[in-house]
Amino acid sequence: MEPEIVIALDIGSTYSGYAYQFSSDFKENPREIWMSDSWSSSNNTHKTSTCLLLKCDTQERIAIGEDAEKEYLRLCDTGEECDYHFFKNFKMILYRKDFATDENPANPKNQAEDYSGRHISFTLVMSKFIEGLKEDCLERFERYEGNQEPRDIGEDQTTDAESKPAINEKKIRWVITVPAIWNDFAKHAMRESAVMAGIPDDQLIIALEPEAAVVHCMYLSDQEKKYMGELGSAGNKFVVVDMGGGTVDITAVKVLKNGHLEQIMMANGGPWGGQSVKNSFSQLVRDVFITKNEPSSFGSCKRADLFEMELEFERQKVAIRGKKKQVTLWIKLPLPADVCRNILCTLKRTNNGLYFKPEIISEILFNEPMKLILENLQSILNDETARSIEKIILVGGLAESHIVRTKISEAFPHWRILVPSNPFCAVLKGAVLYGQKPDIFESRISRFTYGIGTHIPFDPEKHPQDKKEEDSSGKMWCKDVFSIHVKRNQIVSLNKEQPGIVYEPLERYQTSIKCDIYQTESQNPLYITEKGCKKIGSLVEMPDLTEGTERNAQVTMIFGGTELGVKGIDESTRKEFKTTIVYH
Ligand SMILES: Nc1ncnc2c1ncn2[C@@H]1O[C@H](COP(=O)(O)OP(=O)(O)OP(=O)(O)O)[C@@H](O)[C@H]1O
Ligand SMILES: [Mg+2]
Repeated sequence: MEPEIVIALDIGSTYSGYAYQFSSDFKENPREIWMSDSWSSSNNTHKTSTCLLLKCDTQERIAIGEDAEKEYLRLCDTGEECDYHFFKNFKMILYRKDFATDENPANPKNQAEDYSGRHISFTLVMSKFIEGLKEDCLERFERYEGNQEPRDIGEDQTTDAESKPAINEKKIRWVITVPAIWNDFAKHAMRESAVMAGIPDDQLIIALEPEAAVVHCMYLSDQEKKYMGELGSAGNKFVVVDMGGGTVDITAVKVLKNGHLEQIMMANGGPWGGQSVKNSFSQLVRDVFITKNEPSSFGSCKRADLFEMELEFERQKVAIRGKKKQVTLWIKLPLPADVCRNILCTLKRTNNGLYFKPEIISEILFNEPMKLILENLQSILNDETARSIEKIILVGGLAESHIVRTKISEAFPHWRILVPSNPFCAVLKGAVLYGQKPDIFESRISRFTYGIGTHIPFDPEKHPQDKKEEDSSGKMWCKDVFSIHVKRNQIVSLNKEQPGIVYEPLERYQTSIKCDIYQTESQNPLYITEKGCKKIGSLVEMPDLTEGTERNAQVTMIFGGTELGVKGIDESTRKEFKTTIVYH
């Protein structure tokens, strides 16, 4: 389907938003991307906080974003908060390696925890949030149809809203962003949530966040292109670091002659986003009181007061965006005055709060995440493949921070550190452009080894006895063999079939072959039972007895934009199987 419009939803750990672009505009002026300005954000960032407020009994969505935060604060004040679920930072649940490896949906590992410590299914929470973003966006188009010009903030807007066609929902291509470093379960959980929110499966593509940021950098204004060292020229290689609220996602790419892109190093990163700065802040405040032998005083604070303090900290942290001179931050800490006596010399108490010296933010709170970011970046740049890389592009909210930019520039004096304008929205805008050109990445480095669990003839010299299995004709097989289709670190061309492998039914009376698909971080797995091997789905050949049961199947893997497809071909009839990958 050729879309008439691409709508991207960037669901971040801390901030989320949507952006859209008509395909006709993409052809004429690809930088004309429209974003929401309807959030109540005081700093007008075109994104809103990733928060959700649900009514407990009906699971009705009350609000998302900053509206949800404000309403939750009000509910806390009036003592009604127990009737509502308030969720924040739920995206990070997907970063946990054990997410979705258990098939039981009631497993607390697969659940989001609300601010009162109650749990509900992660996919429900995520789908309600996506639904909120989607409805807000589609409402704008309804206003379009009413010829009421929406207030938009696209970079180079010249478009007259009245000349726009009405939106045909079947012609929308939806794009949802996910961190590149997530595993396939987590990426699939986002797809499931989006489908639950009413986004048609066949109209949805998933974009990897750092890659979306790269695509954004390919469509900068001429002036910015110059400042960014003509990134889009053929042969250019660079590293992109997406420093968000939850994760830091690093990737390295090369621009090809046709303007397409090739990933040259495996995506790398970890949970060292801005959220960890906030966590360090909470820890610091706790430490202060614990050293004062008052471990319980912090815990006895009202939930609303703590939440307000958290919001204030975030406001203060973000307020230092771009300023060269650091400001003294005022963090209001709503604790009873007698708890605040004799606080350490780095913090100063007044009747209403604490003064923080700026060094606390830059030297203590940013220390831990920055250390991890710099170490990782260093190990990437030390790699042989990165030899000719001279530019490091910073995007994501943390790239707005002068502290972060300075620390990276100081650590890598021989590289050019570049930040596009509005790095906070780079992934969101790039996701729209990715939706217009989903084939822009030609190849990627596989983060996992993928294969099929199979049987091969038993060889007593090679195979352990406990893997020996006899079939009904008395033939000995070695079971649980990991038949490798794609290796970790291997370059895979996207949307092209990988070389196929032929499998035969174990028993001749079998009418179908069920191939279980496995994934592992190990480079050379021998058996699917090894530590780290995970079954990610199955491919089932539908029974078709017309050609008899003696037939083999050729299985091929195809790496799409972001997801894995598996295809089977009946060797004797050359018919393709109906394929299904059921993620568990
Ligand atoms: N000027 C600033 N100084 C420090 N931190 C900042 C600044 N501006 C934004 N941030 C931080 O950036 C983070 C948000 O960035 P962004 O919106 O890119 O993340 P996200 O998309 O929500 O998260 P992720 O991509 O990891 O899921 C927040 O932690 C915010 O505090
Ligand atoms: Mg992000």
